Amino acid sequence: MTPYDYNARQYHVATRDMVSTELLQGIFPADRATWDDDPQFLGWPAHLQRLHAAISEASARLVGGLEAVLDEPEGSVQEVMGLSGMNRLGLDLVGHVHAHHSFEDSNVLPGFLDRFPQLVQAIDLLENDHSYLDQALDQSELVFARLNGEGTSKVAVAEALKQAEALKKILHRHTYDEEDILIPAVLSAYG
Ligand SMILES: [Fe+2]
Ligand SMILES: [Fe+2]
Repeated sequence: MTPYDYNARQYHVATRDMVSTELLQGIFPADRATWDDDPQFLGWPAHLQRLHAAISEASARLVGGLEAVLDEPEGSVQEVMGLSGMNRLGLDLVGHVHAHHSFEDSNVLPGFLDRFPQLVQAIDLLENDHSYLDQALDQSELVFARLNGEGTSKVAVAEALKQAEALKKILHRHTYDEEDILIPAVLSAYG
């Protein structure tokens, strides 16, 4: 198998457009149009997609909520942040995604590697994503924690919005590609 450089633009989660077909070609090409017709899809694959949908929904809600707070007058920011739950949603999202990734790292990905050794490079890509995302989540935690105290300002909200937008983009890329790598393998093995 050809080695690949995770940090190259076409592989890195922050810059790639899709999971590289070089990593999947000849293994399990992803054809999402056929997933719904597969009876196996209703088991673990649908569960994984629901977990990912909850992550996407929360990160989109965070971006939309912080944008709405920025439309409020400076004097109302603190109150609106509390009433809308935007003072906690970012930290909740960070905790939730950390837990999701650590379960995948300790259980899901090693299990897939045992069962589908052909996916070694694609799974390595996902593990690299997790370690990059962990750093992004730690950075996000620092920024989002500033929304949780007294005296939250629009400057802090604007900074959190920028962080939330970046996080939403890489979380979407990772979860979508993770499905493209893992779900076809399950459908192909048990279908
Ligand atoms: Fe993941
Ligand atoms: Fe995941």
